[in-house]
Amino acid sequence: MNSFTYSYPTKVYFGEKAATKNLPAELAKTGKTVMLAYGGDSIKKNGIYDELVGILKEAGKEIAEFTGIMSNPTYVKVQEGARLAKEKNVGFILAVGGGSVIDCCKIVSAQAKSDTDIWKMEFDEHRFPMAFIPMGAVVTAFGTGAEMNCGAVITHEEKNLKNGVMGAFYDFAILDPEYTMTMPMNQVISGAFDSLSHSMETYMGSPREVNYSDEINEATQRNIIRNIRAMLINPADRQPRSELVWAAAMAENGILKFGKVTDFQCHMLEHQLGAYTDCNHGRGLAVLHPMLYRHMIPEANRQFARLAAEVWGVSPDGKSEAELAESFITALSDFIKEIGLPTTLTEMGIADIDLEAIAKSTIRTDGCVKKFTDEELLAVLKECI
Ligand code: NZQ
Ligand code: ZN
Repeated sequence: MNSFTYSYPTKVYFGEKAATKNLPAELAKTGKTVMLAYGGDSIKKNGIYDELVGILKEAGKEIAEFTGIMSNPTYVKVQEGARLAKEKNVGFILAVGGGSVIDCCKIVSAQAKSDTDIWKMEFDEHRFPMAFIPMGAVVTAFGTGAEMNCGAVITHEEKNLKNGVMGAFYDFAILDPEYTMTMPMNQVISGAFDSLSHSMETYMGSPREVNYSDEINEATQRNIIRNIRAMLINPADRQPRSELVWAAAMAENGILKFGKVTDFQCHMLEHQLGAYTDCNHGRGLAVLHPMLYRHMIPEANRQFARLAAEVWGVSPDGKSEAELAESFITALSDFIKEIGLPTTLTEMGIADIDLEAIAKSTIRTDGCVKKFTDEELLAVLKECI
């Protein structure tokens, strides 16, 4: 195993009425003005907004609203939030939403405390922000696990880049599965597939021998697959949903990554697809994963074969490693179809895009078993059309 240090900065309050039970005590520790950050009107329709505003008022807070955070948040939106935070002298940010709101606020919290442009700081000067406005997250859409890590995925529209920007960890995250009950079913499924993708991308990294982190990871993948199926049968069932809310956090909070260098090549490709098309993240991953994995044969056969047997229940008896690897990719493709996710870019309504530019601008990752060339990534994208 590689060396690692373990300590966790984000306190998680999981379960029914987690906000009502825990927010007042958390708010007692914060400054007077709280930025209430959210996306569109979903939290107004489902009552979460009224509930949280009630708790904030009860705690005697001044509320500065930062609204309209879009899916795939832009750098321009980050700057708008940072300006507002400075102007209103915000002492605490309460981010309410899915990965987009939660990510956007991570960088708002950094930008509001720095006069240097954060993008420039991280990508040109290779420095990271050190000062942040403290924050709490209330998760209303699960999948990304963004509430328990400090990376934010932000689209810089002028540069045509969707990059991971390093921000702050949330002091706490409220995970009440009940808050997710009004999510549209297509978002539920694409979010849950994103969680499966995070687990697979971590698993595919190195070391590639059987290890403790990967064995927890296999269990996480089995759990996500089983609970997506259960939720499709009965979307109102709280049990599979609550399992998925926690599995999503676990898949991207770093615990599966201990001692590993992760792969995440599919994510890097999807992020650039997102930069050019503003597509839904989980749906983009669903299209790209099987195609990219086909191009990782034979290099990744050993891990694919293990996934076939340990996650997808394929009997290894009498099968070669190459046959098992094929079975894994078939099982994954079949599952994507079974749960109603798209299998082509055309199905996602994506046409006439500069595939070459997407391939070229995609970050290559250290952990990927295969080092993709621009031409190979372009071939993957062309097969996805
Ligand atoms: O804007 P509103 O009206 O709130 O509607 C949202 C949005 O349209 C809706 N929604 C959220 N909670 C709801 C609800 N609708 C009804 N009831 C509720 N309870 O859901 C829609 C999608 O929300 P969004 O936050 O965009 O989705 P998601 O959580 O999938 O986040 C996607 C973003 O996260 C990034 C992605 O790249 C993308 O930008 N990621 C962040 C990661 C991280 N920081 O760790 C990891 C991921 O790999 C990912 O890249
Ligand atoms: Zn993801």
